Amino acid sequence: MRVDVSLAPGEISAGEAAQAVVVVIDVLRATSTVVVALDNGCEEIIATESIEEAINIASGYTKADYVLGGERRGLAVDGFDLGNSPAEYVPSKVAGKKLIFTTTNGTRAIKAYGNAYAIYAASFLNADAVFRALARNHADRDVILVCAGQDSRFCMEDALCAGLLARRLRDELGASLSDSANAAADLFGIHENSIHGALAASSHGSYLIGLGYGQDVEFCSRRSEIDVVPKVYDRRVIRRAPVEPEE
Ligand code: MLT
Repeated sequence: MRVDVSLAPGEISAGEAAQAVVVVIDVLRATSTVVVALDNGCEEIIATESIEEAINIASGYTKADYVLGGERRGLAVDGFDLGNSPAEYVPSKVAGKKLIFTTTNGTRAIKAYGNAYAIYAASFLNADAVFRALARNHADRDVILVCAGQDSRFCMEDALCAGLLARRLRDELGASLSDSANAAADLFGIHENSIHGALAASSHGSYLIGLGYGQDVEFCSRRSEIDVVPKVYDRRVIRRAPVEPEE
């Protein structure tokens, strides 16, 4: 296994990822929210790039069967049922329903790598579960950890989570790391005992705290508390991956 990290959006093209397993990371907050929604019984999540696309897809379903969720500039979209705070995705809102979901960076990153061999979503919350799924199902395949970033740029929180995964893949599976994967692993090593502090000091973390979402920043910094592996099917539909070996 060789592990590469796309530290900023677009650094690794979809073509380069065609034979690889892609893990999309948007710690604040899209992939953390996806993990919580699936853990709380959401049937599946349809990732969309735009608000219009989300509304259009929703029009094909009966209202009782779905919720519309997502954000722009960190705030809930007008007319949507839910924003992008993991705390909103409680069983009474999402259990047994589809979530039609659009976020600024996270859902776009998921859709950008639709042609990869397999696509998973990771955050600190499910890092251990994703590591185990990679070890169990894809130990012989190259892995690309894709940081969704913030407005097309590098962001600290996604690089730290990529570093956690890269380090475990190297140390426990013997994976070789690209320079960006080694850099992410080293960065994680610097902050591993103060993830919440690093997230709170990050640019998007401090923006979210300013909006009143400090609890989200704290929650999203918790490590491996949720045993859910979100997997992307048909380029945009995210469901829980099976617990058994997949191949
Ligand atoms: C995104 O996809 O850009 C984020 O999840 C934004 C947010 O924190 O809501």
